[in-house]
Amino acid sequence: MSAFRGVIAIDGPSGSGKSSVARRLATDLGAACLDTGATYRTATLAVLRSGVHLGDKQTILKVVETATMEFGTVPDDRYSLLDGVNVDAEIRGDEVTATVSAVSGIPEVRQYLIRRQRDIIAAADHGIVVEGRDIGEVVAPDADLKVYLTADATERARRRSSQNGADLAATAADITRRDTADAKTTRPHDAAPGAVIVDTTHLDLDQVITALHELVDRRVAA
Ligand code: DC
Repeated sequence: MSAFRGVIAIDGPSGSGKSSVARRLATDLGAACLDTGATYRTATLAVLRSGVHLGDKQTILKVVETATMEFGTVPDDRYSLLDGVNVDAEIRGDEVTATVSAVSGIPEVRQYLIRRQRDIIAAADHGIVVEGRDIGEVVAPDADLKVYLTADATERARRRSSQNGADLAATAADITRRDTADAKTTRPHDAAPGAVIVDTTHLDLDQVITALHELVDRRVAA
């Protein structure tokens, strides 16, 4: 196991395998693991519960800033709490998934959540693997290792639909819709400056993890 205690940024589009990879890598390294998508999803659930109109950006920001949200970063026990209650299942449901890009597209909401994400990163004293869309470029531009995970669109849809049991064509359409919406605020199809691109289309999870360990080992040796 590598003696790595830094920050690893893992970015990539929907269905590129970020979550599984981030969790496994963090577990192997004894590091924490932050799913920044969960912060946007939990904020979106707070907005949906408040009943605020999605066009009312100022009130949305207030709802997000005053929501009681907490994020667990132990890789095998990650959780998202809203008002003290675990919302992991709900934030990955259809309603939040359909709405999250509208909330994450508000610049002031992003600024607030990025501050929260940076606080979590700063508090991680055993290293942290952070996954998202803008980690290497915006949230942690000084990360010790930046990885851009990608896979072709058909493979990404196949993985997502086998995870959630949804129809393949509907999943493919949803991924395209979300990547297009997210591209207005982040660059899901571009690697951050200095990021190593790992195309996972023809790799299984073990092979991706092996490739990332090699990258980490090289950073430790450098
Ligand atoms: O990774 P995910 O599907 O759980 O992310 C949910 C949404 O949050 C995604 O549609 C875009 C947004 N997001 C973002 O804008 N920036 C991030 N760093 C992570 C997620």
